[in-house]
Amino acid sequence: MRLLRELHGRTVIAIAGAAAVLGLAAAVLIVGVGLFNVSARHGHWPGVTWAMHTTFESSVAFRAPPKSAVPDNLDTPDMVALGAGHYKSACMECHGAPGVPRSATVQQMLPEPPSLALVADHWNAPEMHWIIHNGIKMSGMPGWPADRKDDVWPLVAFLRAQKGMTPDTWEAITDDTEGGCAVCHGRNGVSENVQVPRLDILSEEYIAQSLAAYRDGTRDSGIMYEVMSQLPAASVERLARTFADVSPEGTAIEPSELAEQGRALAFAKGGSQSVPACRACHGPWPEPINPAFPSLAGQHAPYLAQQLTLWREGNRGGGRAAELMFKASKDLTDREIEALAAYYASLEPAKLDDTAD
Ligand code: HEC
Ligand code: HEC
Ligand code: HEC
Repeated sequence: MRLLRELHGRTVIAIAGAAAVLGLAAAVLIVGVGLFNVSARHGHWPGVTWAMHTTFESSVAFRAPPKSAVPDNLDTPDMVALGAGHYKSACMECHGAPGVPRSATVQQMLPEPPSLALVADHWNAPEMHWIIHNGIKMSGMPGWPADRKDDVWPLVAFLRAQKGMTPDTWEAITDDTEGGCAVCHGRNGVSENVQVPRLDILSEEYIAQSLAAYRDGTRDSGIMYEVMSQLPAASVERLARTFADVSPEGTAIEPSELAEQGRALAFAKGGSQSVPACRACHGPWPEPINPAFPSLAGQHAPYLAQQLTLWREGNRGGGRAAELMFKASKDLTDREIEALAAYYASLEPAKLDDTAD
C-alpha cells in the first residue's frame, strides 16, 4: 500500500514537472522567440476571440454598478445633448455616429471598435457606464480620463438615444459652427443646457483659473479635461476674456417655496463659526467681492446642485480658494443643496458684483 502511494506521489511530481517544463518551453517560444503572431491583419487562434469576449462580458456584468445608481434625469434631452457633444470629440473617431462611418483604418483594429447604434439593446445603463468609465484592457477601448463617475452618465444617455437617431438630428445636436465651446456652452456662453454651466455670468479670473484647474487635473472632469487636452494653452486667456466680456441677459424667475428656503440659507451664517454666509462670497453683497469667486446668479440649478454634491463628497477641486467651499458645503443635506441651487438659479443672471435679489 505504502509503496503504491509513494509511486503515486512520484508520478504526480513527474507529471507536474513535465508540465512545468513544457509550459516554460511554450513561454520561451511565444515570448522570447516570437512564435505568437501579433499582426492585427489576422484574427486570433480558434477559441481565443470567444474566450476574450466572454471574459469581457462576464467581467462587466460582475462589476457594473447597481441599477439604483442610475440618475433619474438620464434620458432627458439635455443629458443626451451633452453626451453627444463629448462623444463627437472623444468617441466618434473609433465608433462612428449617425451618418458618420468608421474610417478604413479604424476598421482594421483588432478587435474592431463596433458601431454603437444598437449597443443599448445589448448592455443596460449601469453596464455601459462601467465600460465607459473603465475601458477594456487589451482592446483599444480607453478608460475615462477622470476619477469621478457622475459625468459619464451623459454618454450613457446618448448611447441609449442613438438607436434610431437620424443623421440630421445628430448634426443638429452637435453643431459646432459657433466654435468648439458652443456645442455645449451655447452661443456666447449662454448655455441653454441645464447640465452645462453658463459662462456669461463669470469673471475672466474665475474662467481662466477653472480652465487651468481642468487642464492640470485639480478640477476633475472627464468632459472638460478632454476639451483642454485639445486646446492650445495660448487660447485660454483670449477665451476667458471673450466670455467674461458678455453682459448677461435674462430675468429673475418667481422664487418657489424651495427657492425661498434657499434664500434663507444663503443669507444665514454658515454652520460653524469659521464659515461665512454663502452671500458673503457669492452675493448679493453690498461691497465688491473677490473676482476669483464665481457668480451663481441665474446659473442652472442642476449644475449648481451637482457641484455642491461633488464638494460635499470631496470630489470637486478647483483653484486655490476651493478649500473654502469644502468647509461651506460639508454639512449640507440633499434638501439644502436643492434649495440653495433653486435660489441662485431664480436670480436675474448677473456678474458677481451685480447680483441682486
Ligand atoms: C481608440 C478607439 C476607441 C475610442 C476612442 C473609444 N472606443 Fe469604445 N471600444 C473600442 C473597441 C476596440 C471596443 C471593442 C472592445 C471589445 O469588443 O473587446 C470598444 C467597445 C466599446 C463599448 C462596448 C460595445 C459592445 O458592443 O460591447 C462601448 C459601450 C464603448 N466602446 C463606448 C465608447 C465611448 C462612449 C467612447 C468615448 C468616450 C469610446 N468607446 C471611445 C475602441 C474605442
Ligand atoms: C462636450 C461639452 C463641452 C464642451 C465642448 C466645452 N465644455 Fe466647458 N463644461 C462642460 C461641462 C459639462 C462643464 C461642467 C464640468 C464640471 O462638472 O466641472 C463645463 C465647465 C466649464 C467651465 C467651468 C464653469 C464654472 O462655472 O465653473 C468653464 C470655464 C468652461 N467649461 C469653459 C469651456 C470653454 C472655454 C470651452 C471651449 C474651449 C468649453 N468649456 C467646451 C461641457 C463642455
Ligand atoms: C469664503 C467664501 C465662500 C463661501 C462662504 C461660499 N463659497 Fe461657494 N465658492 C467659493 C469659491 C472660491 C468658489 C470657486 C472655487 C473654485 O472653483 O476654485 C466657489 C464655488 C461655488 C460653486 C461652484 C460654482 C461654479 O460655477 O462651478 C457653488 C455652486 C457654490 N460655490 C455655492 C456656494 C454656496 C451654496 C455657499 C453657502 C452654503 C457657498 N458657496 C459659500 C467661495 C465661497
